[in-house]
Amino acid sequence: MAGPYSGSPMTAAVEFETLHEIVQRARQNLGQNDWDYIVGGSETETTLRRNRLALDSIAFRPRVLRDVGRVEAGVEHFGRRMRLPVCLAPIGALEMFHTGAGASVARAAQAFGVGHMMSSVCKPGLEAVAAAAPDGLRLFQLYALGDEAFVDDHLARAAASGYAAFCLTVDTAYYSRRERDLAKRHFTSGRGRVAGRDFLARLDWRTVERVRAKSTLPLILKGIATAEDARIALDHGVDWIYVSNHGGRQLDHGRGTMEILPEIVDAVGVRAKIVIDGGFCRGSDVVKALAAGADLVGLGRMQCFALAAAGEAGILRMLELLGDEIRRCLGLLGVTAFAELDRSYLHAAVPANAPHVLSAFPLLTIDDYRY
Ligand code: FNR
Repeated sequence: MAGPYSGSPMTAAVEFETLHEIVQRARQNLGQNDWDYIVGGSETETTLRRNRLALDSIAFRPRVLRDVGRVEAGVEHFGRRMRLPVCLAPIGALEMFHTGAGASVARAAQAFGVGHMMSSVCKPGLEAVAAAAPDGLRLFQLYALGDEAFVDDHLARAAASGYAAFCLTVDTAYYSRRERDLAKRHFTSGRGRVAGRDFLARLDWRTVERVRAKSTLPLILKGIATAEDARIALDHGVDWIYVSNHGGRQLDHGRGTMEILPEIVDAVGVRAKIVIDGGFCRGSDVVKALAAGADLVGLGRMQCFALAAAGEAGILRMLELLGDEIRRCLGLLGVTAFAELDRSYLHAAVPANAPHVLSAFPLLTIDDYRY
């Protein structure tokens, strides 16, 4: 468990001048098991690396001599203005990294003005997190670890607590083999051994149909990785397609999500919105996703690092630095808002660095941080 950071947002702001310093501090604060749990993926970690590979295989085609004196990085979703097209992805057991857990993340998201998706397996639970950030853009993610009554109960509680959308994670039919944990015989914290796992293996489209019929909340399916499934989701009235491979933590030898995105964008058209995650660490990563047709980007590991580095203040500083990178990137591309971006700003490229979970931060000394 990381030592809780007691400094003010201001202190953290002075302390971290780059995103990699946040990762560095997280590494210092975390024990080896928790660090491995965050940075690790499944089996050979090929999917994990391909997330970065896919992002780094895209170069920009910038335009010049346009007035970019004012750049606006905000977007509007769920009927709300968001300061950045960014959502803090659902992370279970954040309490392992910081005592504030989901409440700290929700508070930081509210203070900054981005979305937070609360995991159903994160403390202090959905009601307490709603109370901690009553005015924030809060979305709720469920692992369907139970029968119909279990799902309905969470649906009703999420609606009653003011969550703006309901998300079902659908890429966890089986818990993957996380070899960093297995090799150390590290089986604590219920990782993968939670009650009700069998229900996840038996989940099918009938659950989506039932949830759609029962609730008017926008419905998100997290873990879509093909145009075929995106089309079926649309036929079930899903509002948001969440393109994700669970950060390379589930099926190994999958595609990087930025490689998946174009076929989803083509299949979805204007029938739904698209959120994507997997390897997004830098402002330029977020800009690439939006230019390629995504509406929102989820941050998984960056959220864990920021929370472990400095709690709520760490998340705030991470978002500030990310926002700064995003605005400079947009300006240097010759656009003043995301609405002006499209695929013409992107070009296939050969990656300049070998991809790995931390390769977005070349100034980190990898040997020191045992990625
Ligand atoms: C996750 N992820 C996840 N997803 C989900 O739907 N519910 C959950 O409870 C969790 N828990 C979780 C814990 C940890 C430690 C990590 C790193 C990830 C997956 C997460 O929402 C997201 O899809 C990925 O983390 C995105 O990839 P990056 O940003 O971590 O590369």
